[in-house]
Amino acid sequence: MQVIKYVFQPHGDDRGQLVALEEFKDIPFNIKRVYYMYDTGEGVHRGFHAHKLLEQILICIHGSCKVLLDNGSEKKIVPLEKPYEGLYIANNMWREMYDFSSDAVLIVLASQLYDESDYIRDYDEFLNFAEENK
Ligand code: TYD
Repeated sequence: MQVIKYVFQPHGDDRGQLVALEEFKDIPFNIKRVYYMYDTGEGVHRGFHAHKLLEQILICIHGSCKVLLDNGSEKKIVPLEKPYEGLYIANNMWREMYDFSSDAVLIVLASQLYDESDYIRDYDEFLNFAEENK
């Protein structure tokens, strides 16, 4: 399983760093939605779903967390701890986010608006979907 991590180019100068992200340039899809998680409790695991169509980029812009990716046959754990790194998650991929540092801010750029019908929240259903859509 290939893990795609983007390394964004910060515009750094003596004032600090600035990262700019543009759709189809730095991000491989049109950005229709942005959401973020913060104040995540200690020991909390989130996610536990896959998407039929949605593509996302996850950036831990402050602090750190881990992401478990599972394509139905293989699993990978990806640490996110740099504000200039983005983890690409394609559709048809089970994900869990955990090990959030108390200061973690995890921002997600998404290719579609929120649509509950795009979610697969049952793991066995995901395994069937992944097998059918290999
Ligand atoms: P949830 O899917 O439980 O988050 P996670 O996958 O991280 O466990 O989402 C939490 C709540 O936020 C839920 O009530 C749905 C809502 N929500 C939106 O309204 N819009 C969104 O874009 C997202 C991601 C969630």
